[in-house]
Amino acid sequence: MPRLAVFASGNGSNAQRIAEYFSGHPSVSVCLVLSNKPDAFVLERAVKLGIPTMVFNRDSFYETGQVLETLRSYRIDYLVLAGFLWLIPQKIISAFPGKILNIHPALLPGFGGKGMYGMKVHQAVIDSGEHESGITIHYVDENYDEGRIIFQAKCPVSEDDTAESLAEKVHELEYRWFAEVIEGVVGRDG
Ligand code: GAR
Repeated sequence: MPRLAVFASGNGSNAQRIAEYFSGHPSVSVCLVLSNKPDAFVLERAVKLGIPTMVFNRDSFYETGQVLETLRSYRIDYLVLAGFLWLIPQKIISAFPGKILNIHPALLPGFGGKGMYGMKVHQAVIDSGEHESGITIHYVDENYDEGRIIFQAKCPVSEDDTAESLAEKVHELEYRWFAEVIEGVVGRDG
């Protein structure tokens, strides 16, 4: 049975959606929620859902290997990044080859890269005058937002959209697709 760990830095609405989707699932389970922010709301959500949590700092992520050890101790097979903002270190990428998925709130390869997260992405889309935005679910490599694309879905950007209203549209797409796409990837490999 594939075992997932979800990484999130903030609110965690996608993490919750994924956990609920796989709750009671016959072959996939969300076993651990990890955050680099001790006060991230995703941690409260995980506790309510009965999922173990881990909070880590830069040292335990990039230097000591403590995060990797914990992933191993939970026998995690896949990492899902759902609003997680740090670059994944090479030793974790090597330990999970082709098994780390990220969601980005725009149509990559546009509007990605370091510092492009959350509202900044939506504001950049609006400022550029694009008529479409959407979501990109992709494998993670050692660069921000550059791994192979698995799935994209689009939504229109209208003239009166703000970053906030566009974020809502994009969140709807995320809730609709992310868990299902994960299920497809995990099912194909497992
Ligand atoms: C999501 O929209 C996700 O696509 C985005 O952060 C949001 C987290 O929302 N991720 C990035 O911008 C990564 N570059 P949530 O915490 O409510 O799930």
